[in-house]
Amino acid sequence: MRMTKIITAAAISLLALSSAAYAAGDAKKGKVAFEKNGCWQCHGYQGQGGVAGPVLQRTQLPYEALNNFVRETSGAMPPFSKKILSDGDLEDIYAYLQSIPAPADPKTIKLLNP
Ligand code: HEC
Repeated sequence: MRMTKIITAAAISLLALSSAAYAAGDAKKGKVAFEKNGCWQCHGYQGQGGVAGPVLQRTQLPYEALNNFVRETSGAMPPFSKKILSDGDLEDIYAYLQSIPAPADPKTIKLLNP
C-alpha cells in the first residue's frame, strides 16, 4: 500500500517535471522557428503532415524523445544539430506543435449533418 503511494508520488513528480520541460517553450516563437528551419516543407505549415513528413501537431512524443529524434535521425528526415537548431528553439517548436487546436468533431459541424 505504502509502496503504491510512493510510486504514485514519483510518477506525479516525473509528470510535473516533463511538462515543465516543455512548458518553458513559447508557442509563438516556435511557429517562427518551425517556419525558419523549414520543418513545414515536409510536415506542413501546421505540422498537419504532408507528402514527405508525418503529422506533428499535438505529437504524443515526450519532448525528450522528439529532441532525440530530431538530433539523431538517419532516415528520410535530415538530422538538425544544436548548431543549426538550438534546444531553446526546439522547445519552442514543441510548444507550438502542442498548441495547435484539434479539429472540430465532424458530428458537431451542421453543414456535414443535414
Ligand atoms: C526533408 C523533409 C523533412 C524536414 C525538412 C523535416 N522533417 Fe521531420 N520528418 C520527415 C520524415 C520523412 C519523417 C519520418 C521519418 C522516419 O520516421 O524516419 C519525419 C519525422 C519527424 C518526427 C518524428 C515523428 C514521429 O511521430 O515519429 C519529428 C518529431 C520531426 N520529424 C520533427 C521535425 C522538425 C522539428 C523539423 C524542423 C526542424 C523537421 N522535422 C523537418 C521529414 C522532414
